[in-house]
Amino acid sequence: MDEVHDLECGNVRSSRNLTEVAPLATAPSRFPAGFLWGVSTAAHQVEGGNDNNQWAAWEQAGGIKSGDRSGQACDWWNNAERDFDLAREMGVNALRLSVEWSRIEPQEGQYDAQALRRYRQMLEALHQRGIRPMVCLHHFTHPLWFEQKGGFLRYDAANRFEGFARHVVSGLGDLCQSWVTFNEPNVYATLGYVLGEFPPGKRGQILTAVRLVNALARAHTQAYRAIHDLQPAAQVGWAHNFVVFQPADPRSVLDGWVTRLVNELFNESFVRLIEQGKLAFPLSLVSGDLNDVKGVCDFVGLNVYSRFHVAFDARLLSQMFARVFVPPHVPQGDHGVEQPYGEAYPAAIRLAVERVARIGKPIYVLENGVPDAQDRIRPWLIVNAVQELDRLIQAGQDIRGYFHWTLTDNFEWSEGWKLRFGLVALDPKTQQRTMRNSGRLYGAIARSNCISPEMVNQYFPAGIEPAPD
Ligand code: BGC
Repeated sequence: MDEVHDLECGNVRSSRNLTEVAPLATAPSRFPAGFLWGVSTAAHQVEGGNDNNQWAAWEQAGGIKSGDRSGQACDWWNNAERDFDLAREMGVNALRLSVEWSRIEPQEGQYDAQALRRYRQMLEALHQRGIRPMVCLHHFTHPLWFEQKGGFLRYDAANRFEGFARHVVSGLGDLCQSWVTFNEPNVYATLGYVLGEFPPGKRGQILTAVRLVNALARAHTQAYRAIHDLQPAAQVGWAHNFVVFQPADPRSVLDGWVTRLVNELFNESFVRLIEQGKLAFPLSLVSGDLNDVKGVCDFVGLNVYSRFHVAFDARLLSQMFARVFVPPHVPQGDHGVEQPYGEAYPAAIRLAVERVARIGKPIYVLENGVPDAQDRIRPWLIVNAVQELDRLIQAGQDIRGYFHWTLTDNFEWSEGWKLRFGLVALDPKTQQRTMRNSGRLYGAIARSNCISPEMVNQYFPAGIEPAPD
């Protein structure tokens, strides 16, 4: 273990290595007692051997740009404990994982007791290591039988999802109190029905995407009530992906208009349903009455990564005339096969927190990270993100935890194995793991519940300026 426990947490303002970071308004960079420093993961990306969900079918049909398959992934189904040991060694006190619906209910109405037992083992293993689990019920994947019946667009989808949620919470409730119903309804709807990068691979179906967001809000609400019915003290939320969209030309009326449109559909839709029980006009015409969704969450989870520029482009009807792009010379992680993943933009945390704070519930940052095999930019991102959180907490925001995406390099959806988000590097062929220095730095922050220039210097003596792409 690294000798960092006793490092004094000073004021990061004085740090030579943090000069590009805006100075902190107030001195202390120590976080509130009980703050959760976690890592986030998702079943299909880490477990391996998931072949009964719609993502497995998508992989088989050639949906992954690199042609990769999730395959054995990080082999969690056999040995998640190996990575839990690394999480303990790092020093995190929380870990978000998801349960795979297609394992637990492989056929409609038929539950696999052994699958639930394996999840019990995993949660017990986390507790034994002093790590608090947070369990997500739907992280982009669901059983083939459910997809074949129309997925969440089917009239009785919320009942099916509620049945699954009840089964999971009855089986695991003594080991977990924090539940995330859905991971990123907005990403699932956008990538699945507008951009065609996620199953079912539809493009330009904007109204269907809006209908899906509504359906997910209903399913979230039903699951929320079911969980509280079984476990009154449960904390239940969802994970919202927030992206900063900026008009490419701030003087252009059309760029401004299309940016507001993209923002409304992507960032605002689900949030508005929870906040107000309705979408903004004219989207409200599609959604109808969702008043019973209003206020239904105990916390808001935020997944925050990036900033994009948006320009009006009359040729892009199927994308609502929005050309979404990353300008040159901004900090960026490694690229996917075709598209950059956006500008790495830690200040997005502040904008996201300030927006969802209006809901009036505690906030967890449930994902933040960057694809970066060489640790070119991840340390910079972590330090900046932690400083953003520090300033927000000092300013009175009720932020209870930060979960880095992710623990170990894993299967990155339509980008396959090309992008490496892990604090721990993984060679998926040999299953060899190597802790990255950014993992050591993050561990030092987590263990001491603060950030100091000494920690940064210890792991990155040459500084943390993002190296050029
Ligand atoms: C998703 C993760 C994904 C990460 C990095 C998030 O939107 O929830 O599953 O791996 O972004 O792309």
